[in-house]
Amino acid sequence: MPINPRKLVYIETFGCRMNDHDSARMLAMLEGMGYNKTDAPERSDLIVINTCSIRDKAEHKVYSTLGRFRILKEQRRSLVIAVSGCMAQQLGALIFKRAPFVDVVFGTHNIHKLKALLDERARSGAKTIAVDFNDEAGGNELVRLPDGPDNHKASVAIMRGCDNLCSYCVVPYTRGAETSRPIDDVLREVQALAGRGVKEVMYLGQNVNSYLTGALGFVELLRKTATIAGIERVRFMTSHPKDISPALIGLFGEEPKLCRHLHLPVQSGSNEVLSRMRRAYTREDYLSKVMAIKRLYPDMAITTDIIAGFPGETDADFRDTMELLRTVRFDNIYSFAYSPRPGTSAMSLDGHLPEDLRHTRLRLLQEEQKAISIELNRAMTGAVLEVMVDGIGRDKDMQGRSRCNRLVHFPASNDAPCGATVDIMITDAYANSLRGVVCDGAGMAACVC
Ligand code: 5AD
Ligand code: SF4
Repeated sequence: MPINPRKLVYIETFGCRMNDHDSARMLAMLEGMGYNKTDAPERSDLIVINTCSIRDKAEHKVYSTLGRFRILKEQRRSLVIAVSGCMAQQLGALIFKRAPFVDVVFGTHNIHKLKALLDERARSGAKTIAVDFNDEAGGNELVRLPDGPDNHKASVAIMRGCDNLCSYCVVPYTRGAETSRPIDDVLREVQALAGRGVKEVMYLGQNVNSYLTGALGFVELLRKTATIAGIERVRFMTSHPKDISPALIGLFGEEPKLCRHLHLPVQSGSNEVLSRMRRAYTREDYLSKVMAIKRLYPDMAITTDIIAGFPGETDADFRDTMELLRTVRFDNIYSFAYSPRPGTSAMSLDGHLPEDLRHTRLRLLQEEQKAISIELNRAMTGAVLEVMVDGIGRDKDMQGRSRCNRLVHFPASNDAPCGATVDIMITDAYANSLRGVVCDGAGMAACVC
């Protein structure tokens, strides 16, 4: 029997990759405090729910999860329940009112206070809370091992918050104003990760193109990252169409480690809607940038985000978005029905559409895109893609990602350990993935990405 058994923490994460990243930071801190991670909330001593408020659906999911954990708390009073992330930031002490069994609430800028909050809770038995903005001392320096079987890949946050104030978006209120990490600090983290075997780094930020002083700051960071020994692939997200620079576009042609995938949210194909969204570009601006990128790099995968049914969106506006989809032929889209978010300026716009119309338009977008994705994926059959192996997928097959971020399945092979890159010849194509076989190159087409 161990004298001092380690305690167990269960973390449930909602929302975006920034939240996944924050949860990984919390886990690294908690491990330093004597906790081990568990996948079984009923066995845990501490539950952390890292929340999202980007759409109301995400908030509903958090409330139903909280309901599940209330029952556990009723069965075991010693269980500590903490709520973090965007909902915690927005609602603060209201969380205790809505869910009185919650013990600790902390916001997006207060992760470094987790230990102090838990200690105080253990000492006094009282509820503890920290939701101050601009209070992130020490939080960003943290170097951590990436989580899970993918530990040849890691996400690194290079900035926090957003200054864009798109009219529908809650992020500037939940994550605060845009701040960039110093370049040396980021590079030190990547160097440490490379030293631990990480081969692929994904830079995260709400608008990476305005990192530091803008375009050149980000390009400099990418160039320096590519010189770090051991790093084979560099990715980033998310880019804002108004800020993507010629220097960054040029870098894709100069730096082979920069993966040819660009996530460039368009949100709508209608100029009227884009203007009410406060996106600061027109449909024509977007199309000319994207088409120029496609001409320069025919193998570049381009993905986007689209909101269906924004307030005031007419049938003609929606047709413009559908037509933009057909013109660009995105590799994939992430599409959402507009969700009114308290505190955002779009709430007070005229012309809010009924929910069923928003969802009908969403379905039409998704059907259109599915056909496009299948066509583009089918065009890949016979091609050879360089795939970095992530491990075992469904049906005991192996899976990995191409440079253009396509998910590729292939029969298990001893020559393809996690983190290795293998050439896969594509034999079958689906809407969201490809399938192929490991090839030795003899007589095969050249690798296309
Ligand atoms: N309703 C629907 N979708 C939204 N997004 C952001 N806010 C909302 C909202 N209120 C989408 C945008 C953004 C993505 C991360 O989430 O498309 O790019
Ligand atoms: Fe939200 Fe717009 Fe900032 Fe993206 S750029 S996080 S949509 S405010």
